Amino acid sequence: MGYHDIYKRWQADPEGYWMEAAQAIDWDTFPSRALNSDNAPLYEWFTDGMVNTCYNAVDRHVENGRADQVAIIYDSPITGRQSKTTYAELQAQVAQLAGAMVAKGITKGDRVIIYMPMISEALVAMLACARIGAIHSVVFGGFASNELAVRIDDAQPKMILAASCGLEPNRVVAYKPLIDGAIELSNHKPDSVFIFQRPEFVADLIDGRDYDWHDVQQGVTPADCVAVEGNHPAYILYTSGTTGAPKGVVRPTGGHLVALNWTMKNIYNVDPGDVFWAASDVGWVVGHSYICYGPLIHGNTTIVFEGKPVGTPDAGTFWRVISEHNVRSFFTAPTAFRAIKREDPKGEYKQKYDLSCLNALYLAGERADPDTIHWAQNLLGVPVIDHWWQTETGYSIAANPVGIEQLPIKVGSPSVAIPGYDIQVLDEAGNPMKPGELGAIAVKLPLPPGTLPTLWNAEERFKKSYLNTFPGYYETGDAGMIDEDGYLYIMARTDDVINVAGHRLSTGAMEEVLANHPDVAECAVIGAADELKGQLPIGFLCLTTGVNRPHDDIVKECVKMMRDQIGPVAAFKLAVVVNRLPKTRSGKILRATMVKIADSQEFKMPATIDDPAILDEIREALQTIGYAK
Ligand code: COA
Ligand code: AMP
Repeated sequence: MGYHDIYKRWQADPEGYWMEAAQAIDWDTFPSRALNSDNAPLYEWFTDGMVNTCYNAVDRHVENGRADQVAIIYDSPITGRQSKTTYAELQAQVAQLAGAMVAKGITKGDRVIIYMPMISEALVAMLACARIGAIHSVVFGGFASNELAVRIDDAQPKMILAASCGLEPNRVVAYKPLIDGAIELSNHKPDSVFIFQRPEFVADLIDGRDYDWHDVQQGVTPADCVAVEGNHPAYILYTSGTTGAPKGVVRPTGGHLVALNWTMKNIYNVDPGDVFWAASDVGWVVGHSYICYGPLIHGNTTIVFEGKPVGTPDAGTFWRVISEHNVRSFFTAPTAFRAIKREDPKGEYKQKYDLSCLNALYLAGERADPDTIHWAQNLLGVPVIDHWWQTETGYSIAANPVGIEQLPIKVGSPSVAIPGYDIQVLDEAGNPMKPGELGAIAVKLPLPPGTLPTLWNAEERFKKSYLNTFPGYYETGDAGMIDEDGYLYIMARTDDVINVAGHRLSTGAMEEVLANHPDVAECAVIGAADELKGQLPIGFLCLTTGVNRPHDDIVKECVKMMRDQIGPVAAFKLAVVVNRLPKTRSGKILRATMVKIADSQEFKMPATIDDPAILDEIREALQTIGYAK
C-alpha cells in the first residue's frame, strides 16, 4: 500500500489505525481503547494500557534472540575511545543502576534529572528511569547552572544522574561545579546525586548527597520493569518558548512507544538489526527519540557519538563513523552539513571511505536550505530527506515516508503530512488558506499518539501556548504553506523562538538576562541569518541615562552573563549599544523589522512605527558588527 492509501486509511479510522500499530509493542495489559477524549481539548492515547518502556527497548529483545546484538555503539573521536554494548549487557547495566536508584528511594512517578554528555551511560540512565517508572528530565550539557536550576525547581527531582564532565573539542566542561551551583541556586534540593566519574575530570563528592556511579551499584538487587499506565509521563523535556521560563513538554508512555516504533520503518526505513545513527545530543528531542528510544524499541543498533562534524579530528568524521559501523540511515541537522561543506567543499574526505551501506540521509531541527541539500545529495548519492517536527511532537509531523513509499523529493519542502497529522495553514482568523498561501501552520486536534498531552504542571500555559489561538487546532508556532500536491513548506517561526545550529532558543530568555545588567535600561534580542548556524542572536542595549563607561566593556559583560546564565550553547557573542529601540506607537518593539535590517533585506515600513528615524541608527549599529550591509 502506498502513502496516500495509508494516509486515507488513517483518516477513515484513526483509532483503529493506532490500535493496530500498538500491537507491535509488548503490553502488560493491552489498552481497551486508543483515544481518550474525556477531557477534550486535552487528549490522551492508550490511557488504560499497562506497559514498560525499558522492557520494550531492552528486555524483550534479549528474550527474542537479540541478546548478543549490539544495542549501543559509543564512538568518541574526542577521547579516541569506542565501546559496544549488547542488548544483554545493556539489560544488566540498566537493571543494576535502576536497583541502586530504588535503594535510594526512587519509585514510580519520582522525577530524576539527567545531566550527562554523549556517553552510553546517558542512555543507561534514561532507561533505568523508564524501568522503574521514574520520570526523567534530561538537561543539555551546554546549559549553565542557572538553566539547570530553573529545571530543578520546575521538575522537583529527587535525584540527579550526572557525569563529572563533558568534553568539547577545545576544553573539558566540568559538570560537577555546574550541578553544585545549580543546587545552590534552586529552592528545591534533590536528595541524591550519582556521578559517573570520567578520567578527564574527577569530581569531588559531597558526603551524604553524592555517590560514585559504580560504588553505589555494588551489591544492590537489580530492579525489574515496573508496568505503568499508558498515560504515565515517560519524561519531561524542557524547551524554549516565548518567555524566559522553559516549557516542560510531557511525553506519554504508551503513545511514545507506539509512535516511535512506527517511525523507524515507515520513515527511516530500517529493519530490526540495522544500524541507525542520529548525530545529535541526548539533551535534545532528537536524542531522546532517535539516539535512545526509537532505535532501541525497534531492535536497532544505535550510535552515541561524542564529537562534532568538523574538527574531531576533521570533516571526514561522519563518513568514518558511517562506514566503520555500517550505518544504514543517518540523521543530523543541516548546520552540521554546512560546517562540513565549509571545511571540505569538494567532499574530498569522503573519498577515503566506502559509504555503500548508507541508504538515506535525514535532516531536521531547522530549515534545510536547498544549497545544503544539493551538496549533500551530490556528495553522498543517496536521497536527502528533510523532515519537520518539534520537541512537542517527538517525531515527524511532515516527512517523506520512505519506508512506505519514497515520494518525489521537492527540495525546500519536508514533504507531506505523516498519518496522524492533519496539517492546515490558517489565516489570522483561523480560516484555512488556499494552496500556496502563507499562514500559520496548525494541526487539527487530536494530535496523534506520543505527542505532548500537556506541559508539566502548567495546563493553562499549555492551552495558552498551543490551543487557544485556533480553537480545535494545535498551533505549531511555525508559519508556511502547503502546495497543490500537499507538500509543506516551513518558512519562519511566529514567536520569539530562534534556531541556532539546530538548537532551539528563546530571545525572550536572553532579553531577561541582558535586562539584569546594571547599566542596561532596555534591550532586545533578535535572530539574524547566519551562513553556518542558520541564525545567530544579536543583542541591542539601551543604557541607563548617565552611564558613560566604554560600550565595549558593557558588551563584553553582557556576553559573559549570557554564557554564565544560559550557557555557551546560546552562541551569544554579538551586541550593540543604541540610543533607542524601534517601537510601535503602542510600545511594542519591532523585532521583525530589525531582523530584516540585519539580514539586509527589503522591508515595508511598519505603519504603526513611532519614529522611523530610529531604524537608521539600528542599521548603522548593525554595520559596525558586519550586518545590514
Ligand atoms: N556542553 C558544553 N558546552 C557545549 C556543549 C555541551 N554539550 N555543546 C556545545 N557547547 C558549547 C561549545 O563548546 C561552544 O562553545 P564556545 O562558544 O566556547 O566555542 C558553544 O557551546 C556553541 O557550540 P556549537 O553550537 O556546537 O557550535 P560550534 O561553533 O562549536 O560548532 C557546529 C558548530 C555547526 C559544528 C555545531 O553547532 C554542530 O555540530 N551542530 C549540529 C547541531 C546538532 O546536531 N543539533 C541537534 C539538533 S537536531
Ligand atoms: P525543536 O523543538 O528544538 O525540535 O525545534 C522545533 C522547531 O525547529 C520547529 O518548530 C521549526 O521551527 C524548526 N524545524 C525543525 N525541523 C525543521 C525543518 N525540517 N524545516 C524547517 N524548520 C524546522
